[in-house]
Amino acid sequence: MTIGAPLPRQDAAVKVTGAAQYVGDLEVPGALEGVFVVSAVAAGRIRSIDRADALTVPGVVSIFGPGQLGVTGPIEHWAAGQASMPMTDAEIRYEGQPVALVLATTGIAAREAAARLVVTIDPLPHQSSFAASLDLGIEIKDWAPTSTAVGSVADGLAAAEVTITARYRTADRHHVALEPSAVVARWVDGGIDLWTSTQWVFGVRAAMAQMFSLPPDKVRVRSGYVGGGFGAKGSTWPHEFLAVAASRAVAAPVRIVLPRSQTFTLHGYQPATVQELTLGARNDGTLTAIRHESWNAASVADDYVEHGSLGSRTMYACPNIETRDRIVRLNRPQPTFMRAPHEGPGMVGLEIAMDELADRLDMDPVELRIRNYARHDPTSGKPFSSKALDQCYRLGAERFGWARRSPVPAAWGPGGVRIGMGMASALMSTFRFGASARVTLERDGSTLVETGAHEIGTGVRTILPQIAADALGLPIERVRVSLGDTTLPEAGGTFGSATTLSVGSAVRIAAVKLKERLETLAGEPGLEPREYAEVLALHRLERVSEEGTWAPTREEGAYAMNAYGAVFVEVAVAPHDPVPRVTRCVGAFSVGRIINPRTARSQVIGGMIWGLGQALLEDSRLDPALGRFVAKGFGSYQIPVNADVPAVDAIFADEFDPHASPIGARGVGEIGTIGVGAAVANAVFNATGVRVRDLPIRVESLLQP
Ligand code: MOS
Repeated sequence: MTIGAPLPRQDAAVKVTGAAQYVGDLEVPGALEGVFVVSAVAAGRIRSIDRADALTVPGVVSIFGPGQLGVTGPIEHWAAGQASMPMTDAEIRYEGQPVALVLATTGIAAREAAARLVVTIDPLPHQSSFAASLDLGIEIKDWAPTSTAVGSVADGLAAAEVTITARYRTADRHHVALEPSAVVARWVDGGIDLWTSTQWVFGVRAAMAQMFSLPPDKVRVRSGYVGGGFGAKGSTWPHEFLAVAASRAVAAPVRIVLPRSQTFTLHGYQPATVQELTLGARNDGTLTAIRHESWNAASVADDYVEHGSLGSRTMYACPNIETRDRIVRLNRPQPTFMRAPHEGPGMVGLEIAMDELADRLDMDPVELRIRNYARHDPTSGKPFSSKALDQCYRLGAERFGWARRSPVPAAWGPGGVRIGMGMASALMSTFRFGASARVTLERDGSTLVETGAHEIGTGVRTILPQIAADALGLPIERVRVSLGDTTLPEAGGTFGSATTLSVGSAVRIAAVKLKERLETLAGEPGLEPREYAEVLALHRLERVSEEGTWAPTREEGAYAMNAYGAVFVEVAVAPHDPVPRVTRCVGAFSVGRIINPRTARSQVIGGMIWGLGQALLEDSRLDPALGRFVAKGFGSYQIPVNADVPAVDAIFADEFDPHASPIGARGVGEIGTIGVGAAVANAVFNATGVRVRDLPIRVESLLQP
């Protein structure tokens, strides 16, 4: 059995030796390098652009200002990260907005000229402070409802014996993928040939076709290796459109590699949220009411809803649940999906509130969650496709040693250091899309899997060959994979934790069809892999190929689908230096069948480490006076490094989800990062008795007057 084997990453060697080519590495003869000049103010109007000094830099070819690239905005397309298109008019709507594009024969020349370009902007008043603007929250129409209600929260609260109401906050956070976004655009023969660091080549193709009024078959998009995406590369962003427009304008290939600073403003970030939670319960812990209202910061030029209340609709059995998601439009760059969007921030509020409720009820936090275990979706009424969260609570608590937790805060620790334990539930809705794949067997036994999916660090180059090898009975060494090209069979984007279940199912279907074809050619079932070559030779075939397509069915729509987890954290807090140190972290996850325990474990451990960042470090401060994100690089934006990361352990429930996908998988990409933030805050309460409702947890959060 190849499925379920902990195979090592098939692309490890090319990555660690530097052989893997990223967009910035591509040798493109005649390519010009492009650098954006961006606005330092959050609102204003461009008065003038003085090119004289910039044009003296040797190697400069062109400098484009607003309206000079032949593009018009906005672009209303589901694959575009933002509708508003910079460089189309003189208006400044957010800090970091491109105001000019410099093209030169080398990157150094382009950067030098960009630095010498004199752009004069008349600033205008701006509104950038999220904290001061919650009353401006508005409801907009989005892909998921932004208001839901079942039962009556008023009745539920009237029946409650204990109620909790509080506000919780999560910070603005950036993706900071190691590889900055990069694109090479070629306008050729009235069409587009694009290399771009993206999670979704078919999305880029569709958006480009609309923007440039081309049939999709005149647009080819490739994405080879991607050095992390986390959602920042999930949509098509202005720098990609503008690179194409520039290539058309100068009739040469154009490459744009965003400098690190511009990755903080040009392709989204996770917006800050404020969440107000009200819980009502009986003394035995039974929930009678859940109200979850969430606000997120958004841009004046665009819409982005961080659905902070999404998880509260489905997490706990409760007859009365009301949720609302509102956005506050501000002069700031467009936010976007970031690994574990929606539930990632949203479960911070719900799961700290549950800990507060457990404390008020004098009840064990795990016990409170089991008391309110949802056997079906409380909002939609649908049964779950599969759910092994009860296993996760039990396995996680055992592995962690939860039984040793003191119910009394600040009760113990060596030499004045206080040790605390906290836990939280995790939930991520399962997203699925249709996908196609082709599997080809050569006479020499080598096999190729082809699909327009992408590897962004998740293990796709291992998982997909593994699924094909399993179906064909071949060793994985015989199976290669080709990804990230719109000339390959269509797959959805590598996002939403959906690639294994969606594309993996397509690969499985193609490989099974291929095996059946070989058996038909052989005239007998039960063909052995060592007989494949013989069968091909007999029919004078060099290769056989089959395509497989998988899509969610209408019948499966009768089920609610979520990935689940239970996260347990231990912290140590010293009395005079109250920086919480996480000493241990255990996550137990219910994600359907595990195709490869090694890459799956890597995914959830990476996610948990990111969760430690949400809990303790990641905070992209936006200066409300300047309307400007202060952080512009790794020096000013803190993420966990090895020294911050304690013993992290992950376990998986034994599960096969028959409704999520034919291979039994749901998804592991995002669930690992959820719940950690709340679990750390809850552990800090257990250690110190101080309730922190605002992430990341700062020293000043714990300095009590
Ligand atoms: Mo993710 S935020 O679905 O890349």
